[in-house]
Amino acid sequence: MKKPSLATTVGGIRSPNPFWLASAPPTNTGDQIRRAFKAGWGGAVWKTFDFEPIVNVSSRYGAVDYDGRKIMGFNNIELISDRTLEDNLREIKEIKTEFPDHAVVVSLMVESRRERWHEMVQRVEETGCDGLELNFGCPHGMSERGMGSAVGQVPEYTEMITSWVKEVAKTPVIVKLTPNVTDIRPIGRAAKRGGADGISLINTINSIMGIDLDTLRPKPHVAGRGSHGGYCGPAVKPIALQMVHALASDAEINLPVSGIGGIQAWHDAVEFLLLGCSGVQICTAVMHYGFRLVEHMISGLEMWMMEKGFTKLDDFIGRSVPHIGGWGDLDLGYKVTAEIDQNQCIHCGLCYVACEDGAHQSILRERVSVEDFIGARAGIPDRVEISGGRRTMAGAGDGYLNLFKIHQETCVGCNLCALACPVEGCITMMERASNLPSMTWSQYQEKLSKKEIDPIRPHRSE
Ligand SMILES: Cc1cc2nc3c(=O)[nH]c(=O)nc-3n(C[C@H](O)[C@H](O)[C@H](O)COP(=O)(O)O)c2cc1C
Ligand code: SF4
Ligand code: SF4
Repeated sequence: MKKPSLATTVGGIRSPNPFWLASAPPTNTGDQIRRAFKAGWGGAVWKTFDFEPIVNVSSRYGAVDYDGRKIMGFNNIELISDRTLEDNLREIKEIKTEFPDHAVVVSLMVESRRERWHEMVQRVEETGCDGLELNFGCPHGMSERGMGSAVGQVPEYTEMITSWVKEVAKTPVIVKLTPNVTDIRPIGRAAKRGGADGISLINTINSIMGIDLDTLRPKPHVAGRGSHGGYCGPAVKPIALQMVHALASDAEINLPVSGIGGIQAWHDAVEFLLLGCSGVQICTAVMHYGFRLVEHMISGLEMWMMEKGFTKLDDFIGRSVPHIGGWGDLDLGYKVTAEIDQNQCIHCGLCYVACEDGAHQSILRERVSVEDFIGARAGIPDRVEISGGRRTMAGAGDGYLNLFKIHQETCVGCNLCALACPVEGCITMMERASNLPSMTWSQYQEKLSKKEIDPIRPHRSE
């Protein structure tokens, strides 16, 4: 089968594939972007700059290392570019000339004065760049100076500054939103009213990374003091996906979306595309693993598309959007319950404690001797280890082991045991016949009001 086309257009900006570097340290210089494009990246959003270079602090990054997994979440108290406007403009021009087919987008953050924005847009567009991204997202440092999220948290400011830029811009304008709001839609609508050609999100989430329990200082710290910073990396992906979906499904917005937040592998990117993004941007994963990451992203995406029979991105962009909606539209009559594959179970009991203490007390525990267990089951001796002449079995203590079984009548199908089980595929959620008709909560309310149905009673009363 022929390789699929990965070419895409985001808000009028074309790129050979949907993978762009997000505006951040990996896009700080022309040399980095040159190396990134050679490695296969389809586009780059230049590290945000203003007229004057910024003074940064040292140190400036922190990370959540969860169970030995480095940089699950990442945090920074860095500001925008510390390079001069002249250097940035010269290098943008050079890169655009060298890579005419790649997307070179320039991220800007300027004080909130119309003439300053006009001047900056005109100077930047003289480089021949493909588009502009307005950074209305940075939650630290710049926001205290009335820029970044101080703009992106207020719909009126978002609309006003976007419209100033659109008054003079000749290239497409993408507005980059902050996730530090309770509802992203009013901000998305404001960007639309201001004339944005596209939206990108998320910028970083306001955060305090942690405290060092030896020194009692915050992490990261600058001479013992810390500050709130921006959180990103794999840990933020679910938040980003929710916001992307909220925008993609809003009829008033209807703008191309560039998805950002926690993308580390090709399948993360596919999820963003399925929720309506025309392209994605990546920062933390590149800071962790380098530019070559894109090779895996491209080959993974191509393989997946070929498996699914997709020849171009438009075959699946936005396909999952209609599958997400309000809670009131979920089917109350749909039912699943858990099932344990006894041949895979290692008798660790994690499912049991989770269900017993944290869910619905629906896992039965039976204590049997190892000898009885082995005697009753053909094939099980394969799982018995001989060690020092003794026969041992995982999950057994004192010659006994616990067997776990789902009590099907009371299991509510919450998924908790399957999520807690350490053995992949050992607990499966199975679809079951339900004693309720298929109906949504909204339909249920209607039927109740017309007295067509009795109130549904809890599945179990003590
Ligand atoms: C150290 C650091 C610096 C960043 N600087 C900028 C910036 O100058 N402009 C901007 O729009 N976003 C900036 N970001 C945010 C990223 O572009 C991106 O929106 C965010 O990190 C989420 O993506 P990720 O989870 O792939 O990192 C920065 C992020 C980090 C970690
Ligand atoms: S799905 Fe939930 S209720 Fe059912 S057994 Fe597992 S944890 Fe218990
Ligand atoms: S968590 Fe999984 S492996 Fe452990 S006892 Fe339960 S089903 Fe078996």
